[in-house]
Amino acid sequence: MKTEIKHIEFDSIIDEINKIQTDTVLIIADHQVWSLYSKDILLEKIENKKVLFWKAADGEKVKNITDFQNAIEFFLEKGIHRNAHLIVIGGGATSDFGGFVAATILRGIHWSVIPTTLLSMVDASIGGKVAINSKSGKNLLGAFHLPDNVWICPKFLETLPEVEKNSGMGEVLKYCFLDYSIYDLVIRKTEMSNIIDECAKFKEKLTKEDLKEVGVRKMLNLGHTFGHAIEFIYNIPHGESVMWGIALLFKLFGTEKNLNDIAALKKALEIPGDHAPWFNKEFPIDKIMMYLSKDKKISALSSIDLVLIKDIGNVEVITKSFDEIQATMEASKDELKKFTL
Ligand SMILES: NC(=O)c1ccc[n+]([C@@H]2O[C@H](COP(=O)([O-])OP(=O)(O)OC[C@H]3O[C@@H](n4cnc5c(N)ncnc54)[C@H](O)[C@@H]3O)[C@@H](O)[C@H]2O)c1
Repeated sequence: MKTEIKHIEFDSIIDEINKIQTDTVLIIADHQVWSLYSKDILLEKIENKKVLFWKAADGEKVKNITDFQNAIEFFLEKGIHRNAHLIVIGGGATSDFGGFVAATILRGIHWSVIPTTLLSMVDASIGGKVAINSKSGKNLLGAFHLPDNVWICPKFLETLPEVEKNSGMGEVLKYCFLDYSIYDLVIRKTEMSNIIDECAKFKEKLTKEDLKEVGVRKMLNLGHTFGHAIEFIYNIPHGESVMWGIALLFKLFGTEKNLNDIAALKKALEIPGDHAPWFNKEFPIDKIMMYLSKDKKISALSSIDLVLIKDIGNVEVITKSFDEIQATMEASKDELKKFTL
């Protein structure tokens, strides 16, 4: 099973949908995206197919069990079959949610994504990890279910709020540490559509090699262990949390060069805000430890795998005990209070 990733023109979205080999199309679209673009994506031009449309609460709000139940009951009630094809139009939250619907309904149907945020174009829509949240944490109910197509249409970025653009830049920054050619494109300030392509291709390559994340794919979790905790504690966008997660990881377990590199990349990507979310506040060790213990990447009850960077493109995965992580944070907590990039 393989995902085809390609750039498409906004005007050819309906043509792409018409090409899908199915007589039933399910569409899940982000509420906010749909209010901006529905007048230009004319579903009535879909030919010879039954079309079932479900509007999702915008962004992260949809990733819950109640909305999941509502969506699947809606589609099942309307009558669908195994060869139905689900199309998601939205950012990473909508594709996580829609992909989970596709993975579970009738034990799995085909699906495709039209990512509408920078973060979903470079990352979330690719690789088949799909999930909704639980009260105990993010993405705790999920599956691996690859989409057939990812249709990247940069026009959607024209309406993306600045804060969401910066969030996407946080994931682009992550890729720069994993792959020298992406690092080089960013430092040379190449056109964004090239950078999007390289990030998407890089993720697709890792995913093909290691769908279930038992090997090379683990490197994509750089910064995510702390990043998810930061996202949860401070309620800031995913990619921005990942950037601060990488910064915190480097501060605790990395090198001076790692910290210099992240500062240079943040500048090249024009990500604003130099102060860490915990700047001048009590560093939240207990909350971070509590969140870590629920992370899906824990390799045992008392340890977790962390991705570290020896140099750009040179990655190692190490296992750290919770005791060591806690002790390292305790030892640095005063310094962390003043942490800036
Ligand atoms: N599955 C994966 O591999 C993976 C990887 C990274 C992140 N994620 C998930 O992705 C989610 C974050 O996704 P995201 O950053 O793409 O944001 P999002 O989907 O949460 O959307 C953020 C906001 O932007 C709005 N929006 C989306 N596209 C827009 C557009 N073109 N114009 C105007 N507004 C638009 C949405 O309505 C929402 O309010 C998180 O839930 C995270 O867990 C998943």
